[in-house]
Formats: sequence, structure tokens, C-alpha cells
Amino acid sequence: MQVFQELDLVRTYVSEQKNGHSVGLVPTMGALHDGHRALLKASKQDNDVTICSIYVNPTQFNDPADLEKYPRTLKEDLELLESMDCDVVFCPSDQIMYPQAKSSVVQLDFGQLDKVLEGHYRPGHFSGVGVVVAKLLNMIQPHRAYFGQKDLQQLAIIRKLVQDFFMPVEIISVPIVREASGLALSSRNQWLSTEEKQQASQLYQALLLAKQLYDGGVKAAAARKQAVQQLDQHPDIRLEYLEAVDPISFRSVKDDGQTEAVAFCVAAYVGEVRLIDNILITGY
Ligand code: PAF
Repeated sequence: MQVFQELDLVRTYVSEQKNGHSVGLVPTMGALHDGHRALLKASKQDNDVTICSIYVNPTQFNDPADLEKYPRTLKEDLELLESMDCDVVFCPSDQIMYPQAKSSVVQLDFGQLDKVLEGHYRPGHFSGVGVVVAKLLNMIQPHRAYFGQKDLQQLAIIRKLVQDFFMPVEIISVPIVREASGLALSSRNQWLSTEEKQQASQLYQALLLAKQLYDGGVKAAAARKQAVQQLDQHPDIRLEYLEAVDPISFRSVKDDGQTEAVAFCVAAYVGEVRLIDNILITGY
């Protein structure tokens, strides 16, 4: 496994490897878990060469305290990547990713997509995600890039970015990996106590309820309402939102019957930890 910090070195190495071979990129912020394993596995299945990037991107943190405490576990991450036969790791410094002054970093506006749900609660977050993903895709120029379905709105943002800028890369989404309790894996779960983890699994239970109702013919808005009511019975969960949206436009699914695809998306605090999760109804 080759580990690079310098852009020139990773670029030269990747262009040599590319010679007739397909390249998959798995962008991460480290603190790797089984959800990332699934991304790597998918990339390894599809491509001759798999590159994982590890970079905690400051521009996507709207809360400086969140950035400060974000887990940084490079040694363990490299061990996991080695054990998975990852070919290349790119872990650039802030200086490499953002050589320009902070105030002059490009801002991206995704319209409606970055104004709702996560965009509403985390202003500037998706601009930061778009900027860093555009940088990574341009730096590595992979054939395919892999992102988890857990960050469903991020996935929609990245698909739009790639489409609008004609970036020659295929975006592959990988299903959510869950604990036995249903809790979606996240780097943030390590801050939850055992009891909080149990409480947090209620988010998935609420999403499952919404899906069961919707599958059974209940309209999206009514299914959403019942799922919210179920979560309201758990005082340890501080709900920010639970919405039924179109998984591409992220427009709210109104109570005008069933649409082709619906995602129920939730964000809530359990203790001090903010968690997100979602469930998709039709093939997306
Ligand atoms: O999903 C993540 O870990 C990050 O948002 C990403 C895509 C690596 C960009 O920093």
C-alpha cells in the first residue's frame, strides 16, 4: 500500500497505474468503520486500483467545536486500509487542499438542495463538501468514486456537482451499514454510551415505521407524522427533522399520493451527539 501526502506524487503514481486500468476513489474523513469497509469493498470489486483519501475537511464544518473534536485516528485507519488491500492512500495537509486564504475559498450554491434538511441546519456545509469533493476528483481523476447512502443529501449534492461540471466520473452509492440494533454506522457513534446507542436505534425504528406505513399505502406525509409521533415518545431523542423527500431534488413529498421514489430522512441529537439516518423506498 502506497501512502502519499503530496499531490505531485499521488498524481504521478495514479497516472502510471491508470494505463489501461480502472481507478476507484473512496473519499473519507478517516475514523474508518465498517461503513467505509463497504465502500472500499465496492471499489475493489469494480476497479483495478483503489485509492482512499483521508482528509478532515474544515470547510464543511459549520461548527468549529465539531471540527476540533472530530476523531482523528490515522494509525488505525492505515492499518484497516492495509488489511483491506487498499492500493493507495492520499492524506493531504490543509496547505495542499487549501493553499488559498480561507476567505477566498470558492463558495458553491446548490439551490434548493442545500437549503433544506442538512443544508438548513448546517449552513455552508454542502458548499464545503462540494468544494472538497471537486478538488479530490480533479486531483485524482478516478473512473469511479464511492459514497455512502447514509449521507443521502450529500450524495444528491455530489451527483449534481458532477453533472453540472461535466466531471468524467461515475458516482457510486453504497447502502447503509447498520449495527444489529439498526443504528447506522457513523464515525460519531464512538461518542455514544452503550445506553445512548440503544436510544439512537429508535431513529431507525421510526424510519422503518414510516416505510412500513408508506409501503402499506399510507401517504408520505401521514407516514412521516406517525414516525415523528413515535420518536416524540422518547425523551432522550431531540428531533431536528424527520421529512419525506424526493431523494434527488430533496423537495418535500406532499400529501398528493405516492411518488416514484421517497426517502424518509431524520436528524436528531442523542445526548450531545448529532446523528442522521434515512430510508429509501424505491430503487434509487
Ligand atoms: O462523507 C464524508 O466523509 C465527507 O463528507 C467527504 C465526502 C469525504 C468529503 O469531505
